[in-house]
Amino acid sequence: MKILVTGGTGYIGSHTAVELQNSGHEVVIVDNLSNSDNNVLNGIEKISGIRPEFEEFDLSDQAKTADFFKRHNDIEGIIHFAAHKAVGESVEKPLMYYRNNIFSLVNILQGMKDNEIENLVFSSSCTVYGQPEQLPVTENAPVQKAESPYGNTKQISEEIISDTVKSTKIKGIALRYFNPIGAHESAIIGELPIGVPNNLMPFITQTAIGKREFLRVFGDDYNTPDGTAIRDYIHVVDLAKAHVVAVERMVNDKMKKDFEVFNLGTGKGYSVLEVIKSFERSTGQKLNYQIVGRRPGDVEKVWADTQFANEELGWKAEKGIDEMTLSAWEWEKALE
Ligand code: UFG
Repeated sequence: MKILVTGGTGYIGSHTAVELQNSGHEVVIVDNLSNSDNNVLNGIEKISGIRPEFEEFDLSDQAKTADFFKRHNDIEGIIHFAAHKAVGESVEKPLMYYRNNIFSLVNILQGMKDNEIENLVFSSSCTVYGQPEQLPVTENAPVQKAESPYGNTKQISEEIISDTVKSTKIKGIALRYFNPIGAHESAIIGELPIGVPNNLMPFITQTAIGKREFLRVFGDDYNTPDGTAIRDYIHVVDLAKAHVVAVERMVNDKMKKDFEVFNLGTGKGYSVLEVIKSFERSTGQKLNYQIVGRRPGDVEKVWADTQFANEELGWKAEKGIDEMTLSAWEWEKALE
């Protein structure tokens, strides 16, 4: 199948492009390289032996997106990753987030409608649950008012897709990611944060390698066993494989509804201190860290109920926390 991967030079997109090609699919990548590098195409080629077709443009540009779809109306499925994703930045620049994340989705859906492309997999986030009342959190848990414009773009996007499937032939699957970390086992592709990382894993690896002085652990007074916040970390390669399964489910007419939502996590929660311990154990590195105050907007604890994804998609995350932290370290070392 010919699959369009938007944001395919980004962190999750690049790992998904590799898994799609490894499964025999033809990949076309569109990316504006606003937060990635076209060297990633070399990495994808090196790992999978195939260089994906690539076009550099901004999907929030309606004319360019319409022109792209006219020339590529043989695409069977789309996996839409391209989006801004920094929570703090979205608070500073809400319009940039709404323009980029919402316009691009609308342009893609229009292109799909005009060219009879029916299958869309969308990158969503567990951020839509806020702090859930019940854990593990299922797909049926109520969506809570977003804490940031970034989170709101994910909620609005799910609604746009859910509305669109009602009056078109388009079908949608929203994949709600928990916390993707780690890198491809080859250490040829991985996460490339620009500037000071916001997320835990790249901050840990950059501290261990000496780019940062110490890790700040945000809060040890949460209602958790060791007082630090709990997340469901998932290996990016496991996550990438779920996208292949999801797009095949759509194209092969296996969907039960025209808009489906799946949690993508491992079902296990780890505290910040447990992630640090895993990193130290798997890599043999000692990590310099200090406990500081809570980070505003952080939830206390969240992990996924994975039963629906496991049963319906026939997919299960396989890699454990030590494999995740070690692969992140191997990637950090390869960047030197
Ligand atoms: N953390 C630290 N120190 C750091 C960075 C993070 O202690 O320097 C802690 C956070 O407080 C949190 C945990 O590590 O408890 C994970 O933080 P991340 O920033 O890695 O991830 P978040 O769970 O905050 O955010 C992720 C995605 C967002 C998404 C959100 C949904 O990065 O895109 O999940 O919950 F919106």
